[in-house]
Amino acid sequence: MRVALAGKGGAGKTTLSASLCRLIASGGSRVVAIDADTNPNLAVALGTDPVAVSNTPFLSASLVARRLDGPALTCSTDEVLQQYSTVGPDGVAIIRMGMPQHTGEGCLCSAHATASALLADLGRSANTVTIMDLEASPEHLSRGTARHADVLLLVAEPYFRSLETVRRQAELAAELPHTRVMVVANKIRDDQDAAAISEFCSRIPLELLGMVPWSDEVVEADRLAVPLIDHSPNGAAASAIGRIATDLLSLRATSAGSGAR
Ligand SMILES: Nc1ncnc2c1ncn2[C@@H]1O[C@H](COP(=O)(O)OP(=O)(O)OP(=O)(O)O)[C@@H](O)[C@H]1O
Ligand SMILES: [Mg+2]
Repeated sequence: MRVALAGKGGAGKTTLSASLCRLIASGGSRVVAIDADTNPNLAVALGTDPVAVSNTPFLSASLVARRLDGPALTCSTDEVLQQYSTVGPDGVAIIRMGMPQHTGEGCLCSAHATASALLADLGRSANTVTIMDLEASPEHLSRGTARHADVLLLVAEPYFRSLETVRRQAELAAELPHTRVMVVANKIRDDQDAAAISEFCSRIPLELLGMVPWSDEVVEADRLAVPLIDHSPNGAAASAIGRIATDLLSLRATSAGSGAR
């Protein structure tokens, strides 16, 4: 099963991606985390050893096979994992797409193409859950970075500009033939916030997978550069993300054979 997280800047994509990875992996699944943000922060949110991460190369553009059919990569996903991933807490393997190394070096289209190809081929690994953390710009949709995702989670905060971003991204994502688009609400402070998200989802309409409350524990974990799951495993935010993880995995069970793997 391949899950990608998108949404407005700062909505909570990385916090949710990392927490989902850790919770799903601790439940016994093999989890691959792909940091598809050119400002990569997923490794620290997962709690992966920063030295090991910095010693692991970014995905190489030469991995893309550009075949019309068959695997999208020139080698197996196991070989890619061996060379380009760092394994961290709960056994989560993180792969980083890439980031600018120099000013004026140009765009990172080939990095996005490689991440997209990797996501395509990971669909062949029936027992792997892949979580892709995307950048805030909607360009990942025009580039097709996550076009092989089985589920696209749009992370929404309860304010107009965040919801407008989700609406626009959902409109683009509707063109993806095999991707189920769902909303996860984050930073919900009260019933009014929850009602705003529910009203938005029924008006568009969009499926609402779950809601995560605003929590000072998330802010504190981030300040300390500690994964939320290690800082407050039983807190309100981690518990809500745990329920979302369970619901995600049950989507895999219900849609086996019809897209989601
Ligand atoms: N439920 C929450 N309660 C309180 N703060 C939160 C919550 N979720 C995320 N945050 C905080 O919001 C900020 C942004 O979170 P995060 O980095 O996960 O967002 P993002 O969508 O990945 O951002 P970017 O667009 O920069 O990649 C962080 O300071 C994080 O600690
Ligand atoms: Mg992020």
